[in-house]
Amino acid sequence: MNKISDILTTMDYGVAPESDEHARAWLGAHSGGFGQFIAGAFTPPAQLFDVFNPARGERIARVSQGTEADVAAAVAAARKALKSWSALSGDARARHLYALARHIQKRERLLAVIESLDNGKPIRESRDIDVPLVARHFYHHAGWASLIADEFPGHKPVGVCGQIIPWNFPLLMLAWKIAPALAAGNTVVLKPAEFTPLTALAFAEICVEVGLPAGVVNIVTGDGATGAALVENDDVDKIAFTGSTEVGRAIRQATAGTDKKLSLELGGKSPFVVFEDCDLDSAVEGVVDAIWFNQGQVCCAGSRLLVAESIAERMYAKLRARMETLRTGDPLDKSIDVGAIVAPVQLERIKRLVEAGEREGAKIWRAPGPLPERGCFYPPTLATEVEPASILAREEIFGPVLAAMTFRTPDEAIALANNSRYGLAASVWTENVNRAFEVAAKIKAGVVWINSTNLFDAASGFGGYRESGFGREGGREGLAEYLVAPAGPSKPAKAVKAPLSALPGRAPAPDGDAIDRTAKLYVGGKQARPDSGYCYAALDPDGKVVGLAGLGNRKDVRNAVEAAAKAASWGAATAHNRAQVLYYLAENLESRAEEFAARLAAQTGAHAREARAEVETAVRRAFYYAGFADKYDGAVHATKTRFVTLAMNEPWGVMGIVCPDEAPLIGFVSLVLPAIAMGNCVIAIPSASHPLSATDFYSLLDTSDVPAGVVNIVTGEAATLAKTLAEHDGVDALWCVGPRELAKTVEAASAANLKATWTRLPPRDWAEEQGREYLRRATQVKNIWTPYGE
Ligand code: NAI
Repeated sequence: MNKISDILTTMDYGVAPESDEHARAWLGAHSGGFGQFIAGAFTPPAQLFDVFNPARGERIARVSQGTEADVAAAVAAARKALKSWSALSGDARARHLYALARHIQKRERLLAVIESLDNGKPIRESRDIDVPLVARHFYHHAGWASLIADEFPGHKPVGVCGQIIPWNFPLLMLAWKIAPALAAGNTVVLKPAEFTPLTALAFAEICVEVGLPAGVVNIVTGDGATGAALVENDDVDKIAFTGSTEVGRAIRQATAGTDKKLSLELGGKSPFVVFEDCDLDSAVEGVVDAIWFNQGQVCCAGSRLLVAESIAERMYAKLRARMETLRTGDPLDKSIDVGAIVAPVQLERIKRLVEAGEREGAKIWRAPGPLPERGCFYPPTLATEVEPASILAREEIFGPVLAAMTFRTPDEAIALANNSRYGLAASVWTENVNRAFEVAAKIKAGVVWINSTNLFDAASGFGGYRESGFGREGGREGLAEYLVAPAGPSKPAKAVKAPLSALPGRAPAPDGDAIDRTAKLYVGGKQARPDSGYCYAALDPDGKVVGLAGLGNRKDVRNAVEAAAKAASWGAATAHNRAQVLYYLAENLESRAEEFAARLAAQTGAHAREARAEVETAVRRAFYYAGFADKYDGAVHATKTRFVTLAMNEPWGVMGIVCPDEAPLIGFVSLVLPAIAMGNCVIAIPSASHPLSATDFYSLLDTSDVPAGVVNIVTGEAATLAKTLAEHDGVDALWCVGPRELAKTVEAASAANLKATWTRLPPRDWAEEQGREYLRRATQVKNIWTPYGE
């Protein structure tokens, strides 16, 4: 037997097992299998499938495979509960959330052990990170429930939310989904991942225990087919998904044109950027947390190490030395650093990808410590000499594998960091504060940790750029995903009397004196002939030709996107500068108000007085967004001690905007101005029926110091042009006003690069439409975490 004095001398490793007695008793009590949790009670178990403990390869539970009927019953229960739940006062909902938080805390140890048994993650992590963050999330959102009425005036819950979560943080992802949804007055149907359903079922029992009204939370277990049934259910108002980009893309297509609100939190290949002036030992510890936390099965794992060439060998040597001390083994051993991979299929995937990387020439070094003889384990692995095009640098491995590359200059580091289709997170290591913030600003990622990594808090939003998805979870912006902003008074769209006419062919001769020329397109600050060489006639309500406009096509849209991308420095201009330009635009519009009003009246048949009023509203709107340009700013979130967490509103970059057909001037202005006020460059598709108000805008843009490429205008058939914008990888976000069919087309086409879309804006009175919602939709939030103190 070891004597304490011997142990103190050798300081050797000894196991420190966490007891699984209570968790096994809980599992034993459910040995007949779990049913679905619908309307506050469990259904009888049916179509059972096995749930395994990946560390031992043993079956620990049996869970029901949710059918379409189960999903429908759960959605019906959520619908039934919605009315009274959303009608509860914020304080009453807060009490429920608070009770959930308290009861989670009371069962902290049990939940942590079940999580480790089910997922294979080290108990140190489930106990010290996952479950405390779960409780924190419910507390934080209990607060929001009380504050929503004041902080989000006029907002309403979205309704019934279908939520689909992955297996890497089963209970934490549940909390990220359920807490904000409930706080905002929604009801939910949640589908946990098939590998890890157990803590969600334990949570269902907590819901019963705290007296949460039946149907507010429903949990349906099953695999991807069950998830797909939830996505396809017509009575679901919103889908929130976390998981692979591939499934996210399928969900984007399945929900296209359905009016379902959607948020997607998808994969990542996050850079961990190490400059030569960093504190190298801290950076090495950072890597341990970045890629070996949760066996690297973390969507924001720092899986690409980008290190300054001058210190690369030194860093690799230190890393290898540190990796030698990492212990991989039984997740319930409190001395373990790296636990089990979630399932054999995931282990195979990791092996396959590493072998492919090795074949491509990467040098693979695996931590030498022993691995348990059975169960799903993979050692911490360092791949060096990885080319940026290598599979190891591109694919999300979702395992404990770090792909290392070097750079020489900060610019090269930024280029490498952004050389990914993903944009979830990044870590930047340098003692130079100027460099840290410059790099943080230039990296396209939703979260940037400076001299730190993998930090999460309920008060800070989390979510990605690019193919990492859209929408945020946590913080104010996460809550907004579960609310519907008040719209201005609705006004049924006026049927356009003179639809798009005279498609390819010789344009008819204009009638009357109103016409003096054929309007071209406006691309990169210049008027450009349409590639097709065709124009079309804009008609007045009596069918008379009031003017000719260019018939834009795919090529014109591509040119416009290129021009918009070149004008990116607009996003870096000061907000004051952008405001000045908008004021100037307003001033110039005002000085030509008569002309714009006459054009409006000629196109739409509006009375002269109405047309004049519309121009005046457009001028006021330009003043409004000029005023907001430097006021829609970010926040400093109250997260962890000794961290400043900055939430910065960043423009999307290049935005496509398909304007309403029936409101040629005010519709165009109401959408384009908030987008450019926030620093985006825009390709606008103006009203197809009445394009001339937008084409008259060219000279206003020219005379108002709007830099070339910031606003590009392509006239023509909305459906064709919108689809091209939706498919274009260079377009970061797309707003599209139009009928359901058009929404369906653009949403389905947008799945290619997973751009954020805003469609189906309800018929509205554009004269009344302005506000923060437009600014929120014109930006995405980047959270930058910076530690302070020595
Ligand atoms: P997955 O995306 O298939 O699974 C995530 C969730 O979606 C599960 O609940 C699953 O049942 C559900 N699902 C699957 N197909 C569905 C469909 N057609 N409609 C609706 N729901 C569906 O992820 P999987 O297969 O478990 O892991 C594969 C890879 O995905 C991993 O190796 C990793 O690269 C990535 N992944 C990324 C995650 C992240 O947090 N970003 C989480 C999990 C996986």
